Amino acid sequence: MTKEELIEGINRLRREKRAVILAHYYQRGEIQDIADVVGDSLALAQWAQKSDADILVVCGVHFMGETAKILSPEKKVLVPDMEAGCSLADSCDAEKFAAFVAAHPDHTVISYVNTTAAVKAHTDVVVTSTNARKIVDQFPKDAKLIFSPDRNLGGYINSVTGREMLLWDGACHVHERFSMEKLAQLKQEHPQAKVLAHPECRQYILNAADVVGSTQALLDFAVKSDAEEFIVATESGILHEMRKRCPHKTFIPVPPDDPACACNECNYMRLNTLQKLYDCLDRESPEITVDPDIRERAVKPILRMMEMSR
Ligand code: 13P
Ligand code: SF4
Repeated sequence: MTKEELIEGINRLRREKRAVILAHYYQRGEIQDIADVVGDSLALAQWAQKSDADILVVCGVHFMGETAKILSPEKKVLVPDMEAGCSLADSCDAEKFAAFVAAHPDHTVISYVNTTAAVKAHTDVVVTSTNARKIVDQFPKDAKLIFSPDRNLGGYINSVTGREMLLWDGACHVHERFSMEKLAQLKQEHPQAKVLAHPECRQYILNAADVVGSTQALLDFAVKSDAEEFIVATESGILHEMRKRCPHKTFIPVPPDDPACACNECNYMRLNTLQKLYDCLDRESPEITVDPDIRERAVKPILRMMEMSR
């Protein structure tokens, strides 16, 4: 099928099946362009919760589909490619995490949304990069807290709040690999540019940034700022929306440390294509399922997040 035929087919199928297409900002541009909703991980979860569609197609990675299913168990939740995982979620094994939590019974457990449902089932409150600081700030200063799985986001929140949360030693393979040397060179070449960085990046990248924030916060800053140039240290899919919203501004992605690799693109996010989106709507597969016991435990920390991020 041609691209035009695929787009026509997707439009017809979503109408016929009362389906809504949710896409993360790290999706291929053509998927963002056809989606009903484009957003960061918090926005997609909020949409999944309030949508009255029969089918949700989550164009993102597996944990995003799982979060949608946990919040809307009565809906059919489809993903274009079941192999679209997340290295950060993979860096936190549920059994090992359960043992870690059991070894610290006096701690409250905060987990980033980039985790499996099984890890969320051992969590007291879920956070996203948009609301992590706001939620952590609601605990007393001397509260004993565990933060999982991202050591960079956890370390960043510790540094801005003066806390000493216990950190799980996980990371995202995309955000860990930005080159400090190339960022320094870009700053020299574009002295007026603002540097935008996602808190999943390493501390030395965050130290060099003008703004540290979630995907949504970086986009909002770029739209509102008077600056004309931006150097962006996060997954490069967000540049699609930045360029769409600010066609007269210049956005420069920070390259990864390995010149042979396009690894400022998340290979999992890029597994989703228009063809797979069409196929999954047509076949109503692959479908996300969550074990009912795990779902019952995992929904509580997600709903608590929704409450605490109001
Ligand atoms: P956001 O919470 O900013 O959408 O980030 C999700 C993610 O996967 C970052 O790599
Ligand atoms: Fe996971 Fe990193 Fe990809 Fe985000 S960019 S989905 S954290 S692997």
